[in-house]
Amino acid sequence: MQISDSIKYVGVDDHKIDLFEGQFHVPNGMAYNSYAILDEKIAIMDSVDGSFGEQWLSNIKSALDGKSPDYLVVQHMEMDHSANIRRFTETYPDAKIVSSKMAFVMMKSYFGSDFAEKQVIVAEGSKLELGKHTLTFIAAPNVHWPEVIMTYDSFDKVLFSADGFGKFGANDYDDPEGWACEARRYYFGIVGKFGANVQAVLKKAANLEIKTIASLHGPVLAEDDAKEALRLYDIWSSYGVESDGVCLLYTSVYGNTKRVAERLAEILKAKGCPKVAVSDLAREDTYECVEDSFRYGKLVLATTTYNGGVFPTMREFIEHLTERNYQNRKIAFIENGSWAPMAIKGMTAMFEQSKNITICENKVTVKIAESADTESQLEKLAEEILK
Ligand code: FEO
Repeated sequence: MQISDSIKYVGVDDHKIDLFEGQFHVPNGMAYNSYAILDEKIAIMDSVDGSFGEQWLSNIKSALDGKSPDYLVVQHMEMDHSANIRRFTETYPDAKIVSSKMAFVMMKSYFGSDFAEKQVIVAEGSKLELGKHTLTFIAAPNVHWPEVIMTYDSFDKVLFSADGFGKFGANDYDDPEGWACEARRYYFGIVGKFGANVQAVLKKAANLEIKTIASLHGPVLAEDDAKEALRLYDIWSSYGVESDGVCLLYTSVYGNTKRVAERLAEILKAKGCPKVAVSDLAREDTYECVEDSFRYGKLVLATTTYNGGVFPTMREFIEHLTERNYQNRKIAFIENGSWAPMAIKGMTAMFEQSKNITICENKVTVKIAESADTESQLEKLAEEILK
């Protein structure tokens, strides 16, 4: 994980965690990254989660070989990175803390002190000279908290990207799916709402020569991996379509809605759709379904009428999409309603405030189980989805 001769990794892996940020399943653990930049002056880039303070300080001690850091750069105040700031100041009382003005306000809330005598306040374009390494700070508000700064090192051409470009999974877990799979679930789960803010940062990053991206979570991305990550972030943050295909999500009480949804998937494939990503919303990881909804340009939602409206799992799922600014998509609906189907009306209303959404005119309504008309309704819907 060493980035260069003078930038060493001092972060930690967490294999005890089950839910990251209290809601994201992380079966392969989580990494809290931190880096030491060794020059005439020494800077530590961010702290780690509160459970790993001792290990982090020990990593710093080993990397610094008897020297003391001059600066702790705090790019982000969420507790998985900021928890050990006070401990750092107790271990290295002469070090300064480099951060945004808003981050110091947050430190006061968190630690009861804003470390006034140690503050170095930085903003967009501020520089910190370490020797050969000059750090330039980039304001990255709402990626995904308001105080966030990123940092560019012009010597090794590294973008320290705070949470940006992070992924789920510990660094000692060799993810066979590569960076993108869990980075996509991470992006849409945590950052997805803030596409416009990410776009603003990408525009600034386009003016930099970036050889390496060093995020606060997941692997360091070098050369081609960094380029590919920048390409995907541009698609994701502009709510563009990454892959050609259909995301088909259903809930089913007795299996009838599931059967109709799966029949639609068969018809779509038979008509040449390159990929139909089908999931049972009640059983699949919610954020796998969120990432697939954003990955493809077409979304089919199939659900049951419940309490005169939309089945709860589906209702909650649609909120996950709309609160993340879901947009630029074609959506088709299938509903089941034993005596008074109401789910399509409810789902349609839930997307009313969403931008650039096309709802398919063909709809499929099932009353308990398939009727003689269901197959032809599914055929027409499939044609409209693929048009
Ligand atoms: Fe990794 Fe927003 O904290």
